[in-house]
Amino acid sequence: MIRSLKKTARFLLEKLGVLTPYDPPNYRAVVFDALTRLKPTLQGQRVLEIGPKDGKDSQRLASLQPESLTLMDIPADYTINVISASRTSREKLPTWFHTLDLPGKSYLEGNILYLTPDELTALGHFDLIWCTGVLYHNPEPLRFLKRLFLLLQPGGLLILETSLTRHPGLKNYNCVEIIWPKTQLCLRVGEDDNQLIPSKIVPDSMQSLTTQSNVSHLPSAKAVLSWLEMCGFQEINEIAIPVPDYKRIALSARKGDFPGYTYSNRGPKPSPYLIGDSL
Ligand SMILES: C[S@@+](CC[C@H](N)C(=O)[O-])C[C@H]1O[C@@H](n2cnc3c(N)ncnc32)[C@H](O)[C@@H]1O
Repeated sequence: MIRSLKKTARFLLEKLGVLTPYDPPNYRAVVFDALTRLKPTLQGQRVLEIGPKDGKDSQRLASLQPESLTLMDIPADYTINVISASRTSREKLPTWFHTLDLPGKSYLEGNILYLTPDELTALGHFDLIWCTGVLYHNPEPLRFLKRLFLLLQPGGLLILETSLTRHPGLKNYNCVEIIWPKTQLCLRVGEDDNQLIPSKIVPDSMQSLTTQSNVSHLPSAKAVLSWLEMCGFQEINEIAIPVPDYKRIALSARKGDFPGYTYSNRGPKPSPYLIGDSL
């Protein structure tokens, strides 16, 4: 409500010439510029991009001429346009893929979170993983990040960007906002979408707004940093992006020789349980 009032006021003030039309900052280009400062060229390197969607970052990555650029996105048959409420499946190979000028390009359909151990091994290891706008679409974020860690070569670089919780009571803490319930009648009975039962959770009026049914967890900035450290990432640095109110965060992180932290309050020492390692 307040947001749409602000939008209307801005529109009117722009029309009257009181405000200059606002050009939304392209934070993805800013993240890419940060990458080029860390790695001016990708020649001879293996790159994995997760969730390319529109291929804009794939074009940018291809311009740095890596030896290979592997793009992985969720199988098209499972992608639905939830905003328009109409199910529109994507082409298997997006049209922009054909315009990528890179001999070593490949497009794979798969959910990185649920690839089998054999499928993960078949991918090999990468010098760079580019993963923007993806983490918060995944209900097991720690496991997701550990998979990226395992897919990197020692010394490999992760560029991660994600949406964050906007909940005023949570955003400054080391915690995750669970976007739930989406509606009060939300738990599906078996396969039948028409049979819904009520959630036991009362909706939180401060819950971060989201109309996307594929967002289930929104972390705070501290939670993202904690997960990266727990997985074993080192040299974790924030990339400044022009997004107001800390709604998103971008980071670079490196995999060193450290295999990540373990958890266990009993059993053998050192503990065999690496945090997030669940292949
Ligand atoms: C919001 S879009 C982000 C697109 C682009 N990377 C960006 O920064 O704007 C999220 C994309 O990630 C894909 N995605 C989400 N989870 C994934 C997973 N576990 N494995 C592979 N792709 C995933 C989605 O299908 C979608 O194309």
